[in-house]
This record gives sequence, C-alpha cells and structure tokens, in this order.
Amino acid sequence: MRKRPPSFLGVHVDRASVKHWEQWLKPNHWLQKGSFDPALHYQTRAQAALWQEVFQRHAPLAQRRVLRLYRSLAQAIAQRYQGTVLRVVSLGVGTGTKERWVLQELHRNDNELEWVPVDASLPLLLEATVPRRLPPLQRLFPLLADFREAPRWSQSLQKELGAKPTVYTLFGLLPNYRPREFFPVLRKMLGEKDRAWVSANLVPGGSRTQSDYKKAVESVLSQYDNSETRRWLTEILREWGLQYGVNDCQVSLVPDGILYAISVTVTWKGKVGKMATQESIPDAGTKNLELFRSYRYTPELFEQTVREFKLHLRNSWIAPSQEEGIWEVSLP
Ligand SMILES: C[S@@+](CC[C@H](N)C(=O)[O-])C[C@H]1O[C@@H](n2cnc3c(N)ncnc32)[C@H](O)[C@@H]1O
Repeated sequence: MRKRPPSFLGVHVDRASVKHWEQWLKPNHWLQKGSFDPALHYQTRAQAALWQEVFQRHAPLAQRRVLRLYRSLAQAIAQRYQGTVLRVVSLGVGTGTKERWVLQELHRNDNELEWVPVDASLPLLLEATVPRRLPPLQRLFPLLADFREAPRWSQSLQKELGAKPTVYTLFGLLPNYRPREFFPVLRKMLGEKDRAWVSANLVPGGSRTQSDYKKAVESVLSQYDNSETRRWLTEILREWGLQYGVNDCQVSLVPDGILYAISVTVTWKGKVGKMATQESIPDAGTKNLELFRSYRYTPELFEQTVREFKLHLRNSWIAPSQEEGIWEVSLP
C-alpha cells in the first residue's frame, strides 16, 4: 500500500523537505555561512506576525492599484476555465490573500476546485487555510513543503490525488531566490499542459539603461529600510539570543549577475563568544551576516531571465505603478 504523507493539524508534511529544515535548527551553519535561508524568516508565529505587519505597510499590495492588478489577474485566469475540475497549487502561499482571489473567481466560473496551498511555514499555512475564508472546495490539501523539492513532491501529489489539469501560482516567492535556484525548479515541476503564474517585484522606470535600473532599485530601498522590516528580519537573532551581539541593520544594493538585489545585513559588535544556547560560534565574529536579499527586476530583465531558463512566456500583467508584475509561464 502506498504511504500517505504524514499529517499534522490537517497539514500534510513532505518528508524530503525535512532535510532543509534540519539545517534550519543549526544556527552555527548559517552564522558561518554568513547568510540565511530565506524560509527561515517565516518559521515562528512571531516571525509570521511581524512579516504580516511589513506586508501590510510596505508591500506593493498595500497600494490599491496593485490590489486591482491581482483582482484582474484572478478574473483573467478564471476566464480560461469553466465547468472544469481543476487543481490549483499555490507555492509560497503565505496568508493566501491573493491566492484566494484566484480561487474565488474560479469558483464563480463553476469550476470544481482542489486546492494545494504549499508553504515552508506552518503558522502561515494554517492562516491561509482558515475555512471561513475559502470558497467551496472539492478538496483541500495543505502541504508543508519546500518549493525546491517540488519536482519530486508534485509527482507524489499526482499519485496521491490523481492526475488533473493543474495551475500553479507562485506569488511573492521569486524575490528571495536567485534565478538559478528558482527557475530550474519551475521547469522541472511543470507538466506539458500546466500553467504557472509567477509574480516578480519590479522597479519603476528602470528599463532604459543600466544606470536607470540601478537608480530605480535605489528608489525602493525605503520599502526595506524601515523599523517594521528590521524588527521582522532580526527576530531570528532574538530567538537565538544574539540580538545584543550585532549592530543595527544596513540596507544596500548588491549586484548579482544581470540583476540588483536589496540586501539587509548586520555586522557583529565584537567577537561573539556564545549565544543563548551556549553553542559557540566559530568565525562568526569576522563576517557580516546577510539576513535577507530581495531581487528586483524590470519587465525586460524578468523576461530575459525566464527565456534563459528555456521557459515560455504567455501573458503578463504589470501594475500601473510598475512595482509588481505577474507572468503566465509554461513549458515551450
Ligand atoms: C513574501 S511571502 C509571499 C506570500 C504570498 N504568496 C503573497 O504573495 O502575498 C513568501 C512566502 O514564501 C514562503 N517560502 C519562502 N521560502 C520557501 C520555500 N523554500 N519553500 C516553500 N515556501 C517558502 C514563506 O514562508 C512565505 O510564506
């Protein structure tokens, strides 16, 4: 008999993702590396709550125009499908606000829906699946999993739930990952008929020259250089008892290939000897610690990147403020 994935509070857990999570429990690993796995910032209830505060105050979605963008995207997706049995897999679902709009529109168009919200954060996954916020679903299958394992768990999902036309949403997940970590996963995960809607954080007015692009990324630094974001990103240091060992966060631009990312780092005040757990941190005192990195694209850079990874671009929706864009992507 096939083994079902273990479930906790109705949430299914992908066993193979646990290999990433075992690392998460080893502060030394990250301190010596000098940077954190992005998913580490969403793990606890406190982190999830602090991130939501940042999201409400500083994310482009806080603007009405970006909100309208997602509403019209949801309608456009729904227009493709009518009276179909459809699986929606939402990676990096977070609290699921945008993803639920897509479900609601699909439901309005008489589709029978299976929803597979996926996240590496248990508190956020539970928040996304509060029943009273959801439209009627034929099946709800919350999955605690790492998206980097998606090519493997999406096959198990097909075995577990049966084959169905599938649409993927990946909203807000790309910014924290290098293109080479993100797009190969997407390519391996997609079936021939599947469609994925991928959002990217954009910069307004950065399309003409490299120096315009750089200036445009600089113009959005304040979205990260603020007290709510500092509080969220340093929560992990408080949890590990390291908050007094570091100086205030620095927010800066870093070039990475053809892209610029916004990087939030801290420096150590001196040699950090021991942290709250009494674990010693060899070498940590000598390095900056990058808490977080967020890649910013222009529409052209996004499209160039997608093509480099041999994926096909079908449609795009760009906010009038040019701060966020969503692309429909498939296999060629
Ligand atoms: C910026 S939030 C986006 C949430 C929501 N989709 C939205 O657009 O508002 C990023 C989400 O991705 C999740 N995430 C980050 N890295 C992940 C990974 N490796 N695997 C699965 N989920 C991940 C985080 O826990 C968080 O919920």
